[in-house]
Amino acid sequence: MLNVIPKPCSVTYSAGVLRLNGRNPSELVTRIGDKTVFPQGYRLVINPRGITAAVSDDAGYFNALKTLEQICSTSGSVLPSVTVEDAPRFPFRSFMIDCSRHFFKTDELKVMIDAASKFKFNYFHWHLTNDQGWRAEVPELPELCEKGSVRGSSHFGSVYDPKPYGGYYTVDEMRDIVSYCRDRNIEVIPEIDMPGHATSLIAAFPELSCNGKPIGLKTTGGIFKDILCVGNDKTYEIVFRILDSLCGIFDGRYFHIGGDEVPKNRWKSCNKCRSLKSSLGLKNEEELQGAFMNTVAEFLRQKGKKVIMWNECLNGNNLDESVTVQLWMDKTGNSVKWANSGHKLIMSDFYHYYMDYPYGMTPLKKVYGYNPVIKGLDHTGAASLIGIEAPIWTEHVRTLDRMTYMCYPRYIAAAERAWTPEDLCDYDDFKSRLKKLLPSLDKRIRYAPEQNWDPPGRSRIDETVSFFIKAINEDNIKNFLDSR
Ligand code: ACM
Ligand code: ZN
Repeated sequence: MLNVIPKPCSVTYSAGVLRLNGRNPSELVTRIGDKTVFPQGYRLVINPRGITAAVSDDAGYFNALKTLEQICSTSGSVLPSVTVEDAPRFPFRSFMIDCSRHFFKTDELKVMIDAASKFKFNYFHWHLTNDQGWRAEVPELPELCEKGSVRGSSHFGSVYDPKPYGGYYTVDEMRDIVSYCRDRNIEVIPEIDMPGHATSLIAAFPELSCNGKPIGLKTTGGIFKDILCVGNDKTYEIVFRILDSLCGIFDGRYFHIGGDEVPKNRWKSCNKCRSLKSSLGLKNEEELQGAFMNTVAEFLRQKGKKVIMWNECLNGNNLDESVTVQLWMDKTGNSVKWANSGHKLIMSDFYHYYMDYPYGMTPLKKVYGYNPVIKGLDHTGAASLIGIEAPIWTEHVRTLDRMTYMCYPRYIAAAERAWTPEDLCDYDDFKSRLKKLLPSLDKRIRYAPEQNWDPPGRSRIDETVSFFIKAINEDNIKNFLDSR
């Protein structure tokens, strides 16, 4: 069996070998344009005369080269004669990094981007803002980074650090990441989270909250009740200026505007929000959130963007039909209904795809075994599921070493399930290919050792309990009680 991950759709061997004799294999490839090959797919032929890659787009050519790279990494300098015909199950295969709770330098992000591209991920969702830090320079609004990017201390779970903590990406650094990704067939999807998880924006512009009181950046994790006032024209003015600036940097198709975990307490008692709600004839605050998200989405659509939001935005039942919804936790069934009526959905089920949870809670086998076409999706719903995303939230991930440990090899399992047809996926077979490929990863990817991939029953419970005990502190509980 060819040692390639994600496992290709079809592999056919023939007689003979190709001896590299010191030549660089990617320089031996002849690209052939073939419109019959599926988007992002390829037909890679290796035989004693050379190598051809038939593709219908640049993504397909890139993917063919990634497959060739893996074949070479385990075959050495004598390649088998083989024809690989391949195309992805889902067009959208994404990973997300939260750079607000902890900040990762662009060199560190590049390590993650490089590794993900080897497994044919084609989107990097860059979570740039949250309550604990604003990370995107907007030159027209210097207050954002001046007041929103450095918090006084950090207290995530049981870990307390009294030192100020911060950082942000300059315009040039963001452009550099966009270009680094483009060279690796990855589109960057920036996220500016709103109207909740927006403390860092309110820290810079206190007038954007319902009560206008100055607040500082959060130093703990959690959900916080000061959110953007949607009845205030200034909110739209600032948000649009931010998005306008970022659209000049992020040239991809998608833009993410968050919308998760929005407590509605403030809106209920704010005259401006109440007045907007009644002037629009809205019944409740969920509808008000839908209306706000739609207004921001329309601004981005005018700039040619497709807009992604977290699944809570469906709660008002008034979301614009063009929005792509990202499901992370949905007990309402709204996301399934959304997809079943033909609207786009991305699967990021937290219990299977959140990489910040320990292996005990989400073992490798569980990531691999998950079929993102979940129960309830009908034929239309399955066709509306454009793909998957595996996020890593970083309240408890302070270093690149920790990030790579948590993500690898679980990202590789998610990548195979997003690419390879369901009936070709087999966990034991995946593991045996994985073990051969892992040594070829960049040494900065400090992947979890095999004995940690699938902890046995008792240690799963212990690891999960100890994670949750360490993940909360008194401030979290106080804030939780406060926000009800
Ligand atoms: C989320 O985990 N709040 C999207
Ligand atoms: Zn308000």
